[in-house]
Amino acid sequence: MTPLFALLFDQLDDRLRLRRPGRAVANKVFPHHWSFLLGEVALFSLIVLVATGIFLTLFYRPSTEPVIYTGSNPLYVGTSMPAAFESILRMSEDVPGALLIRRIHRGASHLFLAATVLHMLRILLTGAFRKPRELNYHLGIVLLTLAIAEGFLGYSLPYDSLAGTGIRIAYSEVLSFPFVGDRLAFWIFGGEFPTGDVIPRFFAFHVLVVPGIIIGTVSLHLLLLVRQKHTQFPRTGIDGHRMIVGKPLWPAQFAESATLMLWTAGLLTLAAVFIPWSDVALLGPYVPAEVGNNAQPDWFMFWLEGVLRMIPALEWDLPGLTISGPFIAGVVLPGLVFGALIAYPFIERRVYHLSGEWHVLQNPLDIPLRAAYAIGTFSFVLIASAAATNDQLSRLTGIPIETATWGFRIASMFVPPVLAFLLYRYSKGRLRRRGLAVASSEQEADSRFHEPASEQQPVT
Ligand code: HEM
Repeated sequence: MTPLFALLFDQLDDRLRLRRPGRAVANKVFPHHWSFLLGEVALFSLIVLVATGIFLTLFYRPSTEPVIYTGSNPLYVGTSMPAAFESILRMSEDVPGALLIRRIHRGASHLFLAATVLHMLRILLTGAFRKPRELNYHLGIVLLTLAIAEGFLGYSLPYDSLAGTGIRIAYSEVLSFPFVGDRLAFWIFGGEFPTGDVIPRFFAFHVLVVPGIIIGTVSLHLLLLVRQKHTQFPRTGIDGHRMIVGKPLWPAQFAESATLMLWTAGLLTLAAVFIPWSDVALLGPYVPAEVGNNAQPDWFMFWLEGVLRMIPALEWDLPGLTISGPFIAGVVLPGLVFGALIAYPFIERRVYHLSGEWHVLQNPLDIPLRAAYAIGTFSFVLIASAAATNDQLSRLTGIPIETATWGFRIASMFVPPVLAFLLYRYSKGRLRRRGLAVASSEQEADSRFHEPASEQQPVT
């Protein structure tokens, strides 16, 4: 510690008795592997989001009341538009520095979601979700859900033509709930969309409620991480079940994380200079009577939009309730994807009769069910995401939109189960060729890792 830090720390320790807990935290070990940095990138993007979001809140007006634009964009001068859109246009053209901050905020929202999804894939594929980390995995799923919701709310706030279309689709989704749809839609949107209440409500949720819950949940996520320690990849000669190998938090990991934080903020700023994210002047304000046919959501909503485009607009009347296509697309199928994510740790434990705790990560091909499950779920999400481009695809290739949609329908029904089956067979065959079955305890998995390694010792 530099003398200044040491002096400060001594003064604080004198008053707060920090030395012992401080040493425990400073000695926390971080494994060496790049994939452990994905969670940190998500965390640093969240910090950038909060910092830039506070600035934007100073200039944003959460209202759909019509106002006359008097700013410096000649295309819109003298036009009546919703106050929310006007404030974003003004920020982009007339508030010094606000366009850069807006773009950094937008870029950080993409990075936050991308890093969170990749971090989740690392956790899922390597088995970091197994006992005792199931609770942290489930907190992670809560975070992923909140991150998607927060992204959607932020995307809605400019009230431009894309945002309005997105809110209208969300409104029809909520309305499609059997029994409670109309009441739920009234509570959330304050009446039949478009209502004046929707933007003030979305604003309160976007800047206060959802970030508050995200920050609380991330804090709990990290506390659990410190308490339970990291998992690590297997290393020859190390009993990973008992000992974790890596850098201490202070000073080595702190220096690495601080560098990563600066890189994250720096690259987001550079991207903001070159990428004109969400140019509202090009999009124009939302006009409820005009239905745009070119609307594309943000990439993380593509799979939801794609499912909506693939499901035919049918209605099934059952005794006492009506199940509609939008309900299946917007609620049932995403519910199944998230339900499968939530249930997976329990399914794996039961299917393979796993016992004890697991601290060493695995190759997913050593666990056929996990390999099959991951490829099945993610190929479905990817095909559904691609289906959200059926109109663009049809325009580019000349294939009729109906044919493209049928192609995606068939692919989404057959490709995921076929890929899952093939990968399951391959992983099982791979284990069989090595004379192995799925290990049911960490000690058993460990001993397998060490045996071949010692056989490979060079003969001198
Ligand atoms: C707001 C989003 C999130 C943030 C900021 C975040 C942050 C972090 C950080 C910094 C770590 C330690 C570094 C690492 O192991 O990669 C971590 C670990 C962990 N995260 Fe997340 N996370 C988020 C979402 C998720 C999601 C979506 C899941 C899974 C569904 C998840 C499950 C876990 C688990 C199980 C660990 C312990 C991993 C281990 O010990 O190897 N997290 N998280």
